[in-house]
Amino acid sequence: MKKVFFTLIALAMTCCTLIISCSKDNEQDVTNPGNGGGGGTTCDTANMAYSANVQPILQTYCYSCHGNGNVSGGVSLGNYASVKTQVDNGNLIGAITHAAGYSPMPQGGAKLSDCNINKIKAWIARGAQNN
Ligand code: HEC
Repeated sequence: MKKVFFTLIALAMTCCTLIISCSKDNEQDVTNPGNGGGGGTTCDTANMAYSANVQPILQTYCYSCHGNGNVSGGVSLGNYASVKTQVDNGNLIGAITHAAGYSPMPQGGAKLSDCNINKIKAWIARGAQNN
């Protein structure tokens, strides 16, 4: 009987240790994606191109309202020319960085990760080319 008792205690302790170490892992996972390069994750912003880097981000987070014929708020991001318009008038960066005076985007969703924002900024810094 005693053996069973100790086995149970040992099991319970292993269990707790596992749960504690797992929850610590989760904390790290949560803090990493947002900091765009720090804390062990890397964010490659070199040679950002519209088709390879920027368009996929917009497709994932914005097309449901601004692509494929959707023009929420009169804003389309479905092709290069319309994206360039929002770059040139400052609305794109204002919206995704949640800057004062702009409607924060994606509307009703979480802000883009710092990495994705930095990728878009890097593409704009290189002239927001149709590349
Ligand atoms: C759930 C729908 C939805 C999603 C997803 C969404 N938007 Fe919007 N967006 C809107 C609506 C509605 C408006 C117009 C109303 C407003 O300005 O608040 C708008 C307005 C904008 C504007 C004009 C902002 C301004 O201040 O004039 C820009 C730029 C924009 N969106 C970019 C984006 C980008 C970039 C994404 C993806 C990262 C995105 N949106 C995702 C619905 C959405």
